[in-house]
Amino acid sequence: MQNDSSFTFVLFGGTGDLAMRKILPALYEAHKGGMLDESGKIVAVARVAHDKAEYLQWIEEHVRGHVPKSDFDETVWQGFLSRIEYVQLDLSKQGDFVLLRDQLLALPSGIRVFYLATGPSLFVPICRALADVGLNEGARIVLEKPLGYDLASSNAINDAVGEIFAEEQIYRIDHYLGKESVQNLLALRFGNVLFEPLWRREWVESIQITIAEELGVEGRGDFYNQTGALRDMVQNHLLQLLSIVAMEPPHAIESDSVRDEKLRVLRSLKPVQRGDISKVAVRGQYHAGVIRGTHVPAYAAEKGVPPDSSTETFVALKVEIENWRWAGVPFFLRTGKRLADRVAEIVVNFRQVPHPALGNMPAGQNRLVIRLQPNESIRLYCQAKQPGEGWDLAQVHLDLAFDQFFKENRMEAYQRLLLDVINGRLALFVRRDEQEAAWRWVEPILDEWATQNKGPKPYAAGTWGPAAASAMLAQHGTCWLEEEN
Ligand code: BG6
Repeated sequence: MQNDSSFTFVLFGGTGDLAMRKILPALYEAHKGGMLDESGKIVAVARVAHDKAEYLQWIEEHVRGHVPKSDFDETVWQGFLSRIEYVQLDLSKQGDFVLLRDQLLALPSGIRVFYLATGPSLFVPICRALADVGLNEGARIVLEKPLGYDLASSNAINDAVGEIFAEEQIYRIDHYLGKESVQNLLALRFGNVLFEPLWRREWVESIQITIAEELGVEGRGDFYNQTGALRDMVQNHLLQLLSIVAMEPPHAIESDSVRDEKLRVLRSLKPVQRGDISKVAVRGQYHAGVIRGTHVPAYAAEKGVPPDSSTETFVALKVEIENWRWAGVPFFLRTGKRLADRVAEIVVNFRQVPHPALGNMPAGQNRLVIRLQPNESIRLYCQAKQPGEGWDLAQVHLDLAFDQFFKENRMEAYQRLLLDVINGRLALFVRRDEQEAAWRWVEPILDEWATQNKGPKPYAAGTWGPAAASAMLAQHGTCWLEEEN
């Protein structure tokens, strides 16, 4: 008899970095939390010639260390290992897929998930080989980013995968959508009446969205050098955050409503004209510097990076949304590696009061800062009267730290997303049309940078990026939040 909640989770790239650091630890957490059906199985697939015992040993050595110590429990761990099977597979051998199918058919029936934690060049060959042995039917397929290199290559993959799997079977991962703090943005906007009336051009002067990292390329120099920050962070994570910040209220949180509204935002982004790119986009690359007292090398000196690389490790952009709600409001986006701090936050700068009844008002009277990581929090800046004579105002703030209210462990992004795949919830995955709209918007910038003689602007590791990123905001009479403190 079919058990509706049973599943087989087939992990291509089962010995890879992502499997080791994210996917298997997330599945362990879900298992530990009792969130997986008891009969559910995990089938790791890779080229390496392991038998099951050797693979389990490999997991002991490579995965166990990625599970937080506080969450580790030996008995639970052994229970988790008992779910795991290993299949050695050579992608070029059709016979290996026949064997895989036979092994899968011998497992309890239920939902079948194929997670492709491999390079994007393998997505289409794997999907075709699965279809040749009939494994695409009724299955779900999970595609990791980067999905393509530009609009054309992403379309080529989506077209080919789309011939084999229907859109409702395809789960495109953007792990930012799995973060509690990002989902909380939806709760903040649409679970309160307070903010929504102010969330528009009449009251908002500008919005900043930052994802800053202290980390460098972490041994991924070769991959990163072909990718750069625009493809690695902007086309996906930053544009997804922007669309959640700017979208209209969805009809419902499940189903396609949220994705429909995000798509409308992505399609309303003002196209960047090639002649204007230097005015609205800044790219940078880090040089050697010091982060928290430790000297770190330049990007160009990282392993796998050519010394004359012109790949950007920093991007700052001015984006406009052409609709009634946001016309004329600049959205400043920024991301970079080896910056001064690790922080992801959204800053909503409200307009000045319409009339200075209390005398001269300082700039930036009201501002909402939504900190996504680390230490998720919301801070609302207001003006208050300073004690004593006269009407001197001072900036004060209201703080909300989420960990004061919610003591339980926050679920890791991958755990949430993997459970959503197993349970067939698509809302937190990127639909093809969203992905296309995002590529279409970044493409002129990619093209211009690829043909320009000028390379990225240098910045020292441990700073906030090139000075040009600050100058871009100064032209709008504003500055990045940390420059004020
Ligand atoms: C990934 C990028 O998608 O996101 C990495 O490929 C980046 O380069 C990472 O470091 C950042 O994610 P998080 O969750 O650590 O902010």
